Amino acid sequence: MRDTGEFDVSSELLDWYDRHARKMPWRVSPVDRAAGVRPDPYRVWLSEVMLQQTTVAAVRDYFMRFTTRWPTVQALAAAPDDQVMGEWAGLGYYARARNLLKCARAVAEDHDGIFPDTYDTLLALPGIGPYTAAAISAIAFDRPETVLDGNVERVMARLYNIHDPLPGSKPALKNKAATLTPDVRPGDYAQAVMDLGATICTPKSPTCGICPLRDPCLSRKAGTQADLPRKTPKKPKPTRYGHVYIAQRNDAALLLERRPDKGLLGGMLGWPGSDWSDAPAETPPFPADWQALPGEVRHTFTHFHLILRIWTAPLPEDLAPNDLIIMDKHTFRPKVLPTVMRKALDLWLGQ
Ligand code: ADE
Repeated sequence: MRDTGEFDVSSELLDWYDRHARKMPWRVSPVDRAAGVRPDPYRVWLSEVMLQQTTVAAVRDYFMRFTTRWPTVQALAAAPDDQVMGEWAGLGYYARARNLLKCARAVAEDHDGIFPDTYDTLLALPGIGPYTAAAISAIAFDRPETVLDGNVERVMARLYNIHDPLPGSKPALKNKAATLTPDVRPGDYAQAVMDLGATICTPKSPTCGICPLRDPCLSRKAGTQADLPRKTPKKPKPTRYGHVYIAQRNDAALLLERRPDKGLLGGMLGWPGSDWSDAPAETPPFPADWQALPGEVRHTFTHFHLILRIWTAPLPEDLAPNDLIIMDKHTFRPKVLPTVMRKALDLWLGQ
């Protein structure tokens, strides 16, 4: 028995998962899994990359569109960069999309289109870190790897009543999670802990009364579950400022730029603009009588808040600016823009 007394956490969780597993488009249900259906590693990988920093609800539609358009890793590997970045627009953390393509191409070219199946070989692929390597190897290949995401951290901190704050407590939480990882059905088990964290052991108001781990849960006994996991307070985010220039021609064509691959929103389409800093210089893409729109765009990135001023001017017929893209109204679709650029468009359209 493990250190939750006589209680067999993994069997209880697997029983609970058999009854309550959430349905997800990339998931093989426990019934199908027991009947021998194996998950498609491509779909598991794609879903795990999409789910980093993002909720299941936000990912569903993106996942469906990606897999309809590119049903295999080879199809994705062969896709042009701008189409993949365009489909990713709105999901955020765009480095993930660039790495997604690198990884698909590495699997297609170096592994004959077949995902490697161990933690170490997965970890060697672009964009696959310890979390994703463990998740794919457990979920797609049923290897007993320990998957530690925010949900699992919360479940472990509560189950063992661990009060050391995150992120410092991660190694201790991982140790606890590792001692529970079973050799039977490790893939279902990994998904069971995540589901428990997402549906019962929730950050606020956990529903301990119906939790399959209510008996061994040490924080429930101590009454501390609502305080866990503790977190070291984050530094407040600074605010940066920027200017954005939206220019439209008489025929409705718009002036855009493809952002450099490196850096924030790398590889994404956007409006030309200044850098983002404390006091950015105005850098219009061509000389004109630029008018500032009333209001501003606010957006929060991982490390800072951004406030953008939006300027507009007519786009001259004969302008062919270097490094910029003139997109006609039939080609331009707002959904290819990252969210902050979409907010600028909405402010302009709302005028
Ligand atoms: N969050 C990230 N990956 C997940 C998965 N496979 N199942 C449930 N929640 C998740």
